[in-house]
Amino acid sequence: MRIYECADYRAMSRRAASLIAAQVVLNPEGVLGLATGSTPIGLYSQLVEWYKQGDLSFAGIRSVNLDEYLGLAPTHEQSYRYFMQQNLFDHIDIKPENTHVLNGLAADPDAECAAYDQLIRELGGVDLQLLGMGHNGHIAFNEPGDNFGLGTHVVSLSERTIDANQRFFESRDQVPRQALSMGIKSIMGARRILVVVSGEDKADAVCRAVTGPVTDQVPASVLQLHPDVTLVGDTAALSKLKEAGVPVCG
Ligand code: F6R
Repeated sequence: MRIYECADYRAMSRRAASLIAAQVVLNPEGVLGLATGSTPIGLYSQLVEWYKQGDLSFAGIRSVNLDEYLGLAPTHEQSYRYFMQQNLFDHIDIKPENTHVLNGLAADPDAECAAYDQLIRELGGVDLQLLGMGHNGHIAFNEPGDNFGLGTHVVSLSERTIDANQRFFESRDQVPRQALSMGIKSIMGARRILVVVSGEDKADAVCRAVTGPVTDQVPASVLQLHPDVTLVGDTAALSKLKEAGVPVCG
């Protein structure tokens, strides 16, 4: 695993965006796996800026998103489809039909998940998968204790994740309790993985994921077994990792 330390959120966002831009330039018809959450907002905004300056085109890029809340329409302001439109897709030249987000309103969620795995196969797999990390080490909506062998599946959110996501809703009651999510098996199938982390509140999860045992209690720890992972974090998020003596690149 390559680990890059950046001074702050802005620098972290630029560094991560540059790795995605490099991927887009080298493989303009590649498949990007994308994430939502607070952490990637800055990097998406940087990609939009480079697109607007004429430095980057997404015209041939295909994308698949990690996850979606079950029960939210794509037009719901807290749906992940809406997030992607607002933060990236509406501002770049990616073709709408080439952007794929799980349908939170699917009548048969299990069938939707199976069709999504099939879609990823038909696209030829994910070239670069972007990931954030939860405070409990979750990646996508794979919570502690979830089976590492699963593809896309329906998940029940942990109380901690519901708490963390509450800030986006008017009340805790409104936070969906279930989601559709790519599983660890789907994520580990990506050819390259880019993890972005920011803030001291992530330092513990990052340290456990990188230095601890590979365990389903810390889903991100499975990334130690992937051959091509780059983790980009700000100094605060990497603080405990550095205390533990793990070497990082500047
Ligand atoms: C988002 C996702 C989540 C987030 C994680 C971190 O698609 O799957 O696993 O990456 O919850 O979220 P933030 O970036 O808001 O701290």
